[in-house]
Amino acid sequence: MKQLHFSFQETSQITVSYLKQIAQEKKIDIHCDHIETEFAQKYQTRFASLWLPFDQELKKNIELLVKKKLRLKPTVLIVIGIGGSALGAKAVHQAIRGRFYHAGNPTLRVYFLQTIDSNRVATIIQVLEKELKQGNNVLINVITKSGTTTETIVNFEVILAVLKEYRSDYQELVVVTTGKDSPLWERAEREKFDLLDIPKNVGGRYSVFSAVGLFPLAIAGINTEQLIKGAQSGVTLGLSKNLEKNSSLLSALLLYVHYQNTITIHDMFIFSVDLEAVGKWYRQLMGESIGKELNTHGERVLAGITPTVSLGTIDLHSVAQLYLGGPRDKFTTFVTVKNGHKKITIPATAPHYLQNKTLSDLMHAFVEGTQIAYQKNDRPFCTVTLPEKNEFFIGQFLQLKMIEIMYLGYLLEVDPFDQPNVELYKKEVKNIVDPSKRW
Ligand code: PA5
Repeated sequence: MKQLHFSFQETSQITVSYLKQIAQEKKIDIHCDHIETEFAQKYQTRFASLWLPFDQELKKNIELLVKKKLRLKPTVLIVIGIGGSALGAKAVHQAIRGRFYHAGNPTLRVYFLQTIDSNRVATIIQVLEKELKQGNNVLINVITKSGTTTETIVNFEVILAVLKEYRSDYQELVVVTTGKDSPLWERAEREKFDLLDIPKNVGGRYSVFSAVGLFPLAIAGINTEQLIKGAQSGVTLGLSKNLEKNSSLLSALLLYVHYQNTITIHDMFIFSVDLEAVGKWYRQLMGESIGKELNTHGERVLAGITPTVSLGTIDLHSVAQLYLGGPRDKFTTFVTVKNGHKKITIPATAPHYLQNKTLSDLMHAFVEGTQIAYQKNDRPFCTVTLPEKNEFFIGQFLQLKMIEIMYLGYLLEVDPFDQPNVELYKKEVKNIVDPSKRW
């Protein structure tokens, strides 16, 4: 099976035999059996997200709707959602299309509208109005599992109001992705918007391979077939009981062991600008899943590994001093891409030591040089190398990371699927906006 490369033996400061010992002590085998049993139950359990890449009906429904909407030849896609309802699609889109893909004048431009920053919303309205005035079609995909997330609902109402001003056939241009029991589902039915369901047991941060990610990505021309194949391979690899071949489990164990030794920060140090949003996606996945006040026995543990994202080589000039000289409280996962880089040769006018090298040769030297410095300064790390930055390997990587977090939740005895503490700030916001009502 094609797979990304995971290396840690020389650099993580933890031996395979010690990881095996911990796996045995923590009865990981029993947990693997448990996940397999849950996986076989498709959408019936909290591990439901593992079933998504294998769901043929989901794939068919999305393909049909994508075909229907692409007949409208949209020039712009606006994805409205936040957190788990936006980060996955944004990560894949940016990884494949590139960070600056709008500069290439694509036939379809894609905007992710997450927060309610009025400048950002005003810019999107400007884009929307310009397209509508020119008689172009703009597709709006609002994504919210609960159907009650304030930012998403507000942004949707604002954008929809503009759309309605210009188009009497506005229903054609809206796709609502939400849970069947959400208030938005009913509203969408009333207004005759096309609807896509988010399965009840699939949490936001695990939903990238549901309609949440697949619909906007397919509209944007991403090869979702390959993305799904990569995700399927990720499930096979991540559920393997062969520890040495299972990078999800290895990574979870490494994080767990270091966490026991006061290494409480996990930095994803990415040496590919296009993968920055993948880092942000992982940050949410780890932060919301592992940061918990209570453990699964109800004890107050205040658990959590703080996820950070660094971008090579940019952040070498910003935080490398801290990483190499500051507290020894971080475990790093370096993420690199091996092949498929555009070839740019450094001209002979450059300083002698750089002449005739390619930019990717140089990038490689930066990765290696940084890693040697980490080793010399006693900083533990592992490395994930994607053979190429394509849909298959991105799908595999995201899936392996989701399974890693499921294992890590088990090892730390916290629930990786809930997020009870975020309700508090949401309630407080509502109390401020509408003090007449006790939220
Ligand atoms: O992972 C999660 O569950 C959250 O980040 C949610 O995705 C986020 O809060 C948005 O929720 P909703 O999809 O209900 O709008």
